[in-house]
Amino acid sequence: MALPFFNKKNAPKDETGTIVLPEQLPQHVGFIMDGNGRWATKRGMPRKFGHREGAKNFKDLSLYCRDIGLQNASFYVFSTENWKRPQDEVNAIMDLFWDYLCEADQYLERRVRMIFVGDRSRLQDRLQKRMEELEHDSRDFEKMNLILAINYGGRDEIKHAAQEIAKEVQAGKLAPEAITEQTIS
Ligand code: FPP
Repeated sequence: MALPFFNKKNAPKDETGTIVLPEQLPQHVGFIMDGNGRWATKRGMPRKFGHREGAKNFKDLSLYCRDIGLQNASFYVFSTENWKRPQDEVNAIMDLFWDYLCEADQYLERRVRMIFVGDRSRLQDRLQKRMEELEHDSRDFEKMNLILAINYGGRDEIKHAAQEIAKEVQAGKLAPEAITEQTIS
């Protein structure tokens, strides 16, 4: 199915110039936030500049998803691998993320439910606190689920699932042979 192009210049339009959306939207669209650094380098700017522009686009795009009636949008923001970048770049990304969280009331006003996935324990306390607050305050909102993956990684998720299951087994609440694919998911 053709997706509505965020690049509004190239989007299919009707005779009045209004963007034409497909009759049925997908249930869930995932976005990988990639290319910020390359985009900036190509323009002779520091990578941080690319992240700033990427953050702006992310805001427009996520609100656009909500406005067209998409039910679930996942954005892969920061992976466990991304900690290996220069400290200065990591700090700039975390500052942008903080600024974004501070302005996130506009999502609540639009009844967007905010969900954060990934291991947040390594994030600054102020980020963790604000993430919890936003998740809590938006828990009943129905317009769209906005899922932000921060400090995400496949191996890390498996480790986390294994630890949680081991705790249940240790507490005698779960028999090892009762572990199924469902338990892991
Ligand atoms: C990938 O581009 C992008 C990132 C690792 C960070 C993206 C995060 C932000 C823009 C912070 C703000 C977050 C929100 C949710 C507002 P890249 O550096 O890998 O680009 P490259 O592929 O060109 O190297």
